[in-house]
Amino acid sequence: MIMMIVAATAATVFAKKYDMLYKNPDAPIADRVEDLLGRMTLDEKVGQMNQYVGVEHFRANIGSIKPEDLKNNTAQAIYPGITPDTLEKWTEQGIVGSFLHVITLKEANHLQQLAMKSRLAIPIIFGIDAIHGNANCPDNTVYPTNLGLACSFDTAMAHTIARQTAAEMRAMNMHWTFNPNVEVARDPRWGRCGETFGEDPYLVSLMGAATVKGYQGNLNSRNDVLACIKHFVAGSEPMNGTNGSPADLSERTLREVFFPPFKAGVDAGAMSLMTAHNELNGIPCHTNEWLMKDVLRGEWKFPGFIVSDWMDIEHTYDLHATSTSLKDAFYQSIMAGMDMHMHGIYWNKYVCELVREGKIPESRIDESVRRILNVKFRLGLFENPFADEKTTMKVRLCPEHRATALEAAHNSIVLLKNDGILPLTAGKYKHIMVTGINADDENIMGDWSAQQKPENVVTVLEGLRAAAPDATINFVDQGWDPRNMDPAKVSAAVDAAKNADLNIVVAGEYMMRFRWTERTGGEDTDRSDIDLVGLQEELIEKVAASGKPTILILINGRPLGVQWAADHLPAVIEAWEPGMTGGTALADIIYGKVNPSAKLAITIPRSVGQTQMTYNHKPSMYFHPYVVKPSTPLYPFGFGLSYTTYKYSNLHLSSSEIASDGTIDVSVDITNTGSRDGVEIAQMYIRDCFSCVSRPVKELKGFSRVSLKSGETKTVHFSITPDKLRFLDRKMQPIVEPGEFKVMVGASSDDKDLLTASFNVK
Ligand code: BGC
Repeated sequence: MIMMIVAATAATVFAKKYDMLYKNPDAPIADRVEDLLGRMTLDEKVGQMNQYVGVEHFRANIGSIKPEDLKNNTAQAIYPGITPDTLEKWTEQGIVGSFLHVITLKEANHLQQLAMKSRLAIPIIFGIDAIHGNANCPDNTVYPTNLGLACSFDTAMAHTIARQTAAEMRAMNMHWTFNPNVEVARDPRWGRCGETFGEDPYLVSLMGAATVKGYQGNLNSRNDVLACIKHFVAGSEPMNGTNGSPADLSERTLREVFFPPFKAGVDAGAMSLMTAHNELNGIPCHTNEWLMKDVLRGEWKFPGFIVSDWMDIEHTYDLHATSTSLKDAFYQSIMAGMDMHMHGIYWNKYVCELVREGKIPESRIDESVRRILNVKFRLGLFENPFADEKTTMKVRLCPEHRATALEAAHNSIVLLKNDGILPLTAGKYKHIMVTGINADDENIMGDWSAQQKPENVVTVLEGLRAAAPDATINFVDQGWDPRNMDPAKVSAAVDAAKNADLNIVVAGEYMMRFRWTERTGGEDTDRSDIDLVGLQEELIEKVAASGKPTILILINGRPLGVQWAADHLPAVIEAWEPGMTGGTALADIIYGKVNPSAKLAITIPRSVGQTQMTYNHKPSMYFHPYVVKPSTPLYPFGFGLSYTTYKYSNLHLSSSEIASDGTIDVSVDITNTGSRDGVEIAQMYIRDCFSCVSRPVKELKGFSRVSLKSGETKTVHFSITPDKLRFLDRKMQPIVEPGEFKVMVGASSDDKDLLTASFNVK
């Protein structure tokens, strides 16, 4: 009897719990989406398509940002005319789909609580720029930024970092990262180079795809987050280098250089994509039907949702002037394929009006809402809308994640020059002078990082002090601000240099977001030159003039033209933005605990005059070389030194002739000819020797990280498959053309580092 009552009660509870199909976790997701969609009002649907900055962000900026600043500010927002309380009320009313810039778990849970009170209790999806770890939020692991990570050529590491970041995000109730940035960086003046995986479409594609897979897993567990490939497209070759300026590019260049990483991201399963600030050949990406409908949905069958970038739909009206009002901008964007709006208070009103006026069919709105709800269901947000404040710190900053951050930093730091001074012999240099804007600053974390607790960040100075406890380290502070360096402090360093056995100058750029307008690197910090800012060059040259050995360490996100240092100093290290363990990683390399292995994922030009010096240029590029200065870069793509040496030999192709759908195995022997164990990043490039349209002099089509003990030889294999030979013919059709191809294998993209062989396609 009792059993029967219990069973009956359970049945009632079950029926009651799932009185609406969409609430039943066991029902197929497509059914849940349709059931929910059928219950939603127009206002609720349009609300799902809209995002706002978090209420705390809004609150913190009231007073500090004026309404007239909003148009140009891409990092901070307020909503004139409403209060943060209004936003909370809207959330409770179920007309908010997403928030961004919520940076604490407390706030995320609070806003979610409000959403749970709404009529249909549709959970919020929280988006955040977790570009290299969930670094914009306090107390998370900060890994090296994408450009440094790409220099490791380590796709498995990219996957691991994305997985760990996803876990840290979910521990904070964040579900959606606006990363990976899969733009192909082609202009060092552009401030955002550091958040990309560099200049090569193949490398960017593989790093991006691994990152997408790492974030998303199967997009169904409590450790998975939604990835967002961005920014579609071509903002990384902006006119004059300025962020968001027009891109005017041929369809061939788009399809051969800029599209492949996005296609790879879609194929890897990315379920969201962000459009780019810029106009493309006259049409803003945010209202570009060709990009969103024809290419993304039509050709690539992208199943996820498209989100706009910060105020960029608005900018089709107030900047590009290709729409005549805000309402027209929303209309054009939605009809071109946009699904979600980042961010603002006019969307709901105007879009509902457009539907009620019959201009946008409600079925078009339903398409977008379906895509958004699908992701919310897959992420399990209906079942698990909250994260646990008690256990959150078990995941964030855990030892395993910090160890990964350190390993990634070790593998991303590029040794550009070493005349033998490195690694430093322990005990040889007893008096070391350390100086430079980045010597003792949290700026090593790079762009897209908030300030973190000092005890979680190891600066270069701290790393060196820990690695060389017996040395006397004299730190001469230059402040953090390259634009406002003090000549007296430079003089102090110059004086101190004379009394040291060794000088270490830590220079570069300033990227920390909390000083948004004072930065020289990162988003919206484009430059008309690529020199060191301020008195940094003078500091380096005068310190070196002491006659004491001087080493330069660079912390920056874009390539810098450090020609003088390359010519005159015994050692130069490019550390990029190595993350919160950067100081330890650098000290490990400087003192030889770790043998550097990274290779450049981007060319370092000599000066701004060499802006487009990518390695994969066309054959006629330097037919007429520059006069006076060289036509070669300062350091080529794929270049990086080690403390050991490697020899490549026995390049062998399994066949010298293949059919156009055939495969060739390429093998090469690599010997560690030096006295230290190391990891060599071997690279394979291909050139189509004669073709119906001009083809690059070489293109990366394979790479391998090979660990080799001193004296050891390993045979490394690459495979040449048809996709690596294919290009677009004169009619823009994909083709593998018969004829001769050259294969080049070696240590960098520089011809002198490459062994070559040829084969024919029949
Ligand atoms: C950037 C995006 C970013 C967004 C939100 C924009 O300014 O272009 O990449 O995701 O801000 O922070």
